[in-house]
Amino acid sequence: MARRARRPLVAGNWKMNGTRSSAREVKALGRLVAKSQTKPSCEIMICPPATLVHHIRDAARGTPVRVGGQDCHFAQGGAHTGDISADMLKDAGARAVIVGHSERRSDHDESDAVVCAKAEAVHACGLTAIVCVGETETQRDDGATLRIVGAQLKGSLPASATAKNTVIAYEPVWAIGTGRTPTNEDVAKVHQHLRRRLVALLGEAEGEGTRVLYGGSVKPGNAVELMGIDNVDGALVGGASLTAKDFFGIIAAYIR
Ligand code: 13P
Repeated sequence: MARRARRPLVAGNWKMNGTRSSAREVKALGRLVAKSQTKPSCEIMICPPATLVHHIRDAARGTPVRVGGQDCHFAQGGAHTGDISADMLKDAGARAVIVGHSERRSDHDESDAVVCAKAEAVHACGLTAIVCVGETETQRDDGATLRIVGAQLKGSLPASATAKNTVIAYEPVWAIGTGRTPTNEDVAKVHQHLRRRLVALLGEAEGEGTRVLYGGSVKPGNAVELMGIDNVDGALVGGASLTAKDFFGIIAAYIR
């Protein structure tokens, strides 16, 4: 399938950053997008902390910016102190939820099975799951990247996954917040591998239709180059999504 058939997604992951005053960045982003001559040929999303989902959704009203969550519990409700369900995020205005981010996998010991159950919970309430995979630096040095991301993909995708309700994000752990990125050839190799695995797991149409984002030190300065790589269908952006200026600099790569 030609890449153009998959509408790119540029999603910002604010991680544990932001307060209600951050809404001004979202408003500024909305103005920058509105001012650009051509509509961006991509979906734009911001995933703020759960406390801000509702507030940021309100701030983004009237703009093409959509809002997502960063994580959810795999249950839809019950005795899970401190946790938040996909349904609650949906109620607050989220359209998607990131699951299996490497920071969740390492800080909270989340296994592929847990990530899979979370993705299933996201699907069950009609939202899109952004499922993250990525190798550590040691795994990369051992030449295990393709094997690791392939296994994470297989273990993290529930039977409910389709091209419409699932987005994959390839985020090499060693590239997150470090200013380092893999070579274009390495990104192309991993994304092609993920595409093949998706086709094997979901069938031709769903596997070809599922978007695969790249994440890890995406900045305005490397966004154009990264989006030009085969099977890269957008970006999952951390630090550079916190200010309207930088995030728009990345989105601008998708304005033609
Ligand atoms: P950085 O863009 O800050 O490297 O973070 C990437 C990331 O983890 C997005 O989920």
